[in-house]
Amino acid sequence: MERILERFGLAMTGCGAAAPTRSVSNEEVSLFVETSDEWIATRTGIRNRCLASPEDSLAQLGATAALQALEMAGLAPEEVDLILLATSTPDDLFGTAGVIQAAIGAPQAVAFDLTAACSGFVFGLVTAAQYIRTGTFKNVVLIGGDLLSRWVNWDDRRTCVLFGDGAGAVVLQASDVDSLLGFQLRSDGTQNSCLNLKVKLESHEISEDLTIAHGSFSPITMNGQEVYKFAVRKVPEIIEKALFHAQLTTEDIDWIVMHQANQRILDSVADRLKVPNDKVVSNLATYGNTSAASIPLALNEAVRDGRIKPGETMVLAGFGAGLTWGSAIVKWK
Ligand code: ACO
Repeated sequence: MERILERFGLAMTGCGAAAPTRSVSNEEVSLFVETSDEWIATRTGIRNRCLASPEDSLAQLGATAALQALEMAGLAPEEVDLILLATSTPDDLFGTAGVIQAAIGAPQAVAFDLTAACSGFVFGLVTAAQYIRTGTFKNVVLIGGDLLSRWVNWDDRRTCVLFGDGAGAVVLQASDVDSLLGFQLRSDGTQNSCLNLKVKLESHEISEDLTIAHGSFSPITMNGQEVYKFAVRKVPEIIEKALFHAQLTTEDIDWIVMHQANQRILDSVADRLKVPNDKVVSNLATYGNTSAASIPLALNEAVRDGRIKPGETMVLAGFGAGLTWGSAIVKWK
């Protein structure tokens, strides 16, 4: 018997976001590490970040973002087929997507976590697209969320000033018209040591001839200058490649919604692509670097305040640990 393979398009139909209520300014950070608002703001563009309390959880922020996105899409949780959570900081190493599934009441959905650090949202978008395009799933909730404040060394001024916590979500649905116009994903494990949140092992002798290791995690380490150089070189390149495959040019782009790591990186990418800075969405000043959450947090803000309008073309671009980087060209709605 002959099997007819159907291909479906994909539409981004809703977005949402959530961040912890506690906002911490650069001035406040400078009370506990030797730094200043001036140093942080001029080097990074960051002025505040939201930090999770011990009572907060990734599941709770992710569920809030997901429910907002579902409401905007006009989709009931019971209709969701897949929940994908891009994160490097799950509440549980076995995965947190299932907890979000339970919290939002989506019993039909399959739910799992995916890790690609700050590129996680873009990698998750492309993963979700494969399920939709093959006709496997129709309604997907993609969440990017991280609570990196739990994994930085708060005595290390080189890293602790950069990160904040949050979650963002989008709804992706099967559609006759495909809104994912192109994408490119890359990894380079040879540069893995630039950015790590590594397992820390302690030997534990169980018996005379059996020694195992107990695991925990060491705080984030980062070679800031290497990551900076990597980002300003690779991000414009991967955006140009995705545009080329989509038979588009930078002229066709209405918005760039990039991983929010550093304002200087955003400006440099815009510069290299010759895209005006006002087409680059930035909310670093409010949230800092929220890793996998940063793209959907920025997207949600720009959609809800009316900047990004239905039918407009966005370039989403992520980069981070792995090293990983990727871009996707998507129409909003
Ligand atoms: N306050 C004051 N001084 C500081 C601080 C701080 N918070 N942090 C570092 N310094 C000092 C350093 O100690 C150093 O002093 P020294 O010369 O006396 O030793 C000096 O400032 C310069 O330090 P550098 O690390 O060289 O600073 P640089 O100009 O490279 O800026 C930064 C650091 C902002 C981290 C930059 O390298 C950067 O943005 N890199 C990209 C990082 C990034 O994007 N990471 C995230 C991507 S992946 C992810 O999101 C997980």
